Amino acid sequence: MNFSWNQIKKPIVALAPMSGVSDSPMRLMAKKLGSDLEFSEFISAASLFYKEENEKSFKLARFEETERPYIIQLFGNVPEHFEVAAKILNERFNPDGFDINFGCPARSVVNSGAGSSLFREPEKARAIIEAVKKASNGKPTSIKIRAAFKNISALEFIENIKGAPFENVTLHMRTYEQLHTGEPNWEIAKQLKEKLKPLGIPLIINGGLNTAEKAKAALEYTGADGVMIAQASLGNPFIFREIKAALNNEPIPTVTLEERIQTALEHAKLMVQIKGEDYGILEMRKHLAWYFKGMPNVSELRAKLVKISSLKELEEILRTIPFQT
Ligand SMILES: Cc1cc2nc3c(=O)[nH]c(=O)nc-3n(C[C@H](O)[C@H](O)[C@H](O)COP(=O)(O)O)c2cc1C
Repeated sequence: MNFSWNQIKKPIVALAPMSGVSDSPMRLMAKKLGSDLEFSEFISAASLFYKEENEKSFKLARFEETERPYIIQLFGNVPEHFEVAAKILNERFNPDGFDINFGCPARSVVNSGAGSSLFREPEKARAIIEAVKKASNGKPTSIKIRAAFKNISALEFIENIKGAPFENVTLHMRTYEQLHTGEPNWEIAKQLKEKLKPLGIPLIINGGLNTAEKAKAALEYTGADGVMIAQASLGNPFIFREIKAALNNEPIPTVTLEERIQTALEHAKLMVQIKGEDYGILEMRKHLAWYFKGMPNVSELRAKLVKISSLKELEEILRTIPFQT
């Protein structure tokens, strides 16, 4: 069945787009452990406008069929760039939808007039959404925004782009100034949900939802239609099944050390399968550090893991971890 924002089962539990992190292997692990929806890392619309056969962008967009529903996220500042990028990526990869980044606070992105700085240019934001919708032949089109950019709130921004063809909003409940830390604002999410309800547009909330209990409480408080998890999923795909369990009022499953080791190994194998051994293992190093963060006496293990160069070496190191189970 074709993906649609209205038909996907709610509440949605999604893995967040994370540049340099949420690649296909990580998305597959999240999916296996309960994530309902996967997003690509953000991809520059300009990069495809200026170079149609852009292998670097294609690498970011590529996904496995088992990841579906899978949404490609674009960022940029020029509607024509989005039009070209969405057309190329749609024809080449046939994703289930496109998401537009109106939330990124990174200086390089904001200085180029993209990401959250588009709060200041609602007419351009509207033209971007229309361009993506049209160029993708009407694919489900969604937007990811922030609680505020400077003095412009999410509520004001949504009012300013009302009527544009977006079918879902993901709200990072922190402001532009807060970057990726600090107290998220559940109140504005609740108000935004009220605003979107009569328009029939679902709301996914994101930001600081680092435990299953918190994700459930935030959904209940805001009335939102889903949660999106970024930092709490690093080395911890288990968070998705934990949230699912909490939402079903089931006991939250514990993660044994043995399971953690097996999961990290499975993740590494996917890395190697998808990216090749050299690059895959290099990319896996940071994930390994996350998988074993917080374990007692971890510094020696971590020092070894961040230097591995093959799957075999990883298997040997993991074999030396004494099981506590
Ligand atoms: C390393 C990293 C990369 C990110 N890259 C993206 C991105 O490409 N697109 C995007 O919309 N948000 C990106 N974000 C923001 C996250 O999707 C999310 O909104 C933010 O981390 C807040 O969620 P959290 O508190 O669960 O981490 C990134 C965050 C991190 C930590």
